[in-house]
Amino acid sequence: MPAAQQPDWPDAGALGAALKQIAQFPPLVFAGEARALTTSLAQVAAGNAFLLQAGDCAESFDDFSAVSIREKLRVILQMAVILTYSSGVPVVKVGRIAGQFAKPRSAATEMVGDVELPSFRGHIVNDIMPTAAARIADPERLVQAYHQSASTLNLLRAFTKGGFADLSRVHAWTQEFVASSIEAERYEAVASEIERALRFMRACGIDLEGTAQLHQVDFYTSHEALLLGYEEALTRQDSLTGQWYDCSAHMLWIGERTRQLDGAHVEFLRGVGNPLGVKLGPTATPGFVLELCQALNPARLPGRLTLIARMGANQVEDRLRPLLRAVHNAGHPVVWEVDPMHGNTITSSTGRKTRRFEDICNEIAGFFRAHRAEGTWPGGVHVELTGADVTECLGGGDDLLDGQLEERYETMCDPRLNARQSIDLAFRLAELLRQ
Ligand code: PEP
Ligand code: CO
Repeated sequence: MPAAQQPDWPDAGALGAALKQIAQFPPLVFAGEARALTTSLAQVAAGNAFLLQAGDCAESFDDFSAVSIREKLRVILQMAVILTYSSGVPVVKVGRIAGQFAKPRSAATEMVGDVELPSFRGHIVNDIMPTAAARIADPERLVQAYHQSASTLNLLRAFTKGGFADLSRVHAWTQEFVASSIEAERYEAVASEIERALRFMRACGIDLEGTAQLHQVDFYTSHEALLLGYEEALTRQDSLTGQWYDCSAHMLWIGERTRQLDGAHVEFLRGVGNPLGVKLGPTATPGFVLELCQALNPARLPGRLTLIARMGANQVEDRLRPLLRAVHNAGHPVVWEVDPMHGNTITSSTGRKTRRFEDICNEIAGFFRAHRAEGTWPGGVHVELTGADVTECLGGGDDLLDGQLEERYETMCDPRLNARQSIDLAFRLAELLRQ
């Protein structure tokens, strides 16, 4: 079947050798973990939990350190605490991390000055430097991406199970550069209330030390399953059930540009047991979405399929309602998630790719209105963020302006929310969930 968005690998022999090597490496995740995520997502589908999926647009080989991993995790944990505490709804936490390297592109080439170069497709394929040599697809990068994913996942497992995510450290998650802001003040208030609640429970004689949920967090990984050779090389048969799982991450999603019903991405992913996501832009019709549900989840397993609306702030309400109605009437148990980033990308007056914080909030609000009107559950949010103090999205608490984008514009691909904007967003989401 035709596979859209695949790189042009000039050396087929080297590609084959790299994939063969990866196929012999250990899996990154286990089938049982993917099934546990499906079970948690089934709770989201049923309206009993909320999905927070967040992380980088594209992970980088250059920005790879314990600090950058920890800072991303930290802001996601903060957002989850705000959401859980303020809305009383359990939050399922999924990172765009430990494998989110490959990028689909609107065009195969780009003009740099007056030279035409192959587009940058993520560090798993080529380099972002604007030279012809840097843009050649290099299969060794597949191997490097595997190793970086393994180290990242190793550290995430240590942080989430080894004390960093302990709820008694809720105050310690505030980054220094956030500390003096209004978002931090609000966060500190929530953290203090949580501490008081924990003290109260201890005073009542509840064994807090023995309650694992207070000391550890279940954190799952996800990425866009774009490079089918790489995904196939990490697909293994589960010894317990005999089923196939793509062990490159717990959850995989199909992007807006690769969701063709007769394409290779849908065909490949329907054959693995992982929970799946599919991005749905404004052109998705009810008929298409029903066929997609049938193709990817014919058994109607709750938690198996997450539909990710990324329609733009102005379109989401009108475009989404017919889809919600059709899927509901057909009885498909999906998770509905909103990606308020990719339908709201604009070019700043200085020529930077950016997004307005208000547009992001407006798309989320439109998503909630559509669900209220149709009587369905607004199950989750999918955002691009970083723990660093970058200046990539406009607006937010510190009201970032066009001219300030240059200060710390570091993304290799799409503009990400910084830590303050992410926390601000979590409070607005909590407000919507409470209503
Ligand atoms: C992405 O999530 O980074 C992405 C490219 O999204 P979409 O497929 O929705 O454009
Ligand atoms: Co992106």
